[in-house]
Amino acid sequence: MSLGFRLWQNLLPTMNRSLAPSKAQCLRRCGAANIARTRLHTIAAAAAPVAGERRAKANIDWDSLGFGLKDVAATMYVAEWTPEKGWDSGKLVPYGPLNMMPSAQVLNYGQAIFEGMKAQESAKGRVVLFRPDQNAARFKAGAARMSMPSVPEDQFVEAVRATVENNLDYVPPMGKGSLYLRPLLMGTGPILGLGPAPAYTFAIFAAAVGAYFKGGQLTPIDLIVEERFHRAAPGGMGGTKAAGNYSPVLVTQLEAKKNGFADVVYLDAKTDTYLEEVSSCNIFVVKGKTIKTPPLSGTILPGVTRRSIIELARSRGYDVQEAAVSVHEAMEADEIFTTGTAVVVSSVGSMTYRGNKKAYTAPGQAGPVALEMYSALTDIQTEKADDKFSWVYPVK
Ligand code: COI
Repeated sequence: MSLGFRLWQNLLPTMNRSLAPSKAQCLRRCGAANIARTRLHTIAAAAAPVAGERRAKANIDWDSLGFGLKDVAATMYVAEWTPEKGWDSGKLVPYGPLNMMPSAQVLNYGQAIFEGMKAQESAKGRVVLFRPDQNAARFKAGAARMSMPSVPEDQFVEAVRATVENNLDYVPPMGKGSLYLRPLLMGTGPILGLGPAPAYTFAIFAAAVGAYFKGGQLTPIDLIVEERFHRAAPGGMGGTKAAGNYSPVLVTQLEAKKNGFADVVYLDAKTDTYLEEVSSCNIFVVKGKTIKTPPLSGTILPGVTRRSIIELARSRGYDVQEAAVSVHEAMEADEIFTTGTAVVVSSVGSMTYRGNKKAYTAPGQAGPVALEMYSALTDIQTEKADDKFSWVYPVK
């Protein structure tokens, strides 16, 4: 029997399962935290064919994971909202196309937000999420900004948990990567005149991923400061994880990549003076024991990793300021790093502004503060270190 067929058989009992969160589920979840497990990836093909139990592992080369859809998880979560019924309880279904008309609001007017999250195998031999409550809260705020019905936070967290539990065989071995989760909320109902959609879809798909940037996780990235285009403007939606914030950056990002840069740093739209963020992540600037990151004034994405690094760095004795950082100050800094769910913590090797290149690190070597923050964060995320902030959320 082929591995694919076995996997499919194992999935069948869990397909189209209603996912209404219940008290019993919450109790089971807490209990799951205490279940000692042997390593996931030694699972035999004969593993019990029920959701959340170990299954035959997906046929994935864990050593060549990149950030893409090569190893997309077998099942996804889908819930629908209608004005009459509100949100249904959602289902796990095979990963595949969503059903919508060409007149779907999202295809015409872009009513959509998304999240990025990761599930990882931990040193305790279980699979854990990182601060899913924070993503649930941001998803709710984003829905309000985009005039969409918000997903109840407990439904969001339970849906993410169930998606991971149903795809445990896509969680890479510890240290090789993570199961990246992409919750989406979009107006899928049809409409012609500009207005909110008459129906919505909340979906979560997942994929096994490795490092975001091509050079690998600890290789410093080269950035260029963009002066022609802005990512966000005051009063706009830069602080929302709206789908529409991400394609306008491609015009500059693609050009930067052609010129050997990993990504672009945006400046504030009002004065072209202060750093905002990179296309895909937040930015931190280090001088001595002071670390600055642009404040959340509406144009900056309130990153979960950003918030976590602020708290972690403070706990390690750094003076962390959420304050405007001018591009000139950044060019004089000791070190720069970026943060995000996908990028984790990425050291900036150099930044180029008006043709001047400032190098922050020795070639190929990550900066010391970036390294310290990366280790401190990932040690908590993989339960190698004590989770003194209670950030880790066990799935199984
Ligand atoms: C993430 O970091 O998870 C994001 O959603 C950013 C995206 C551009 C990959």
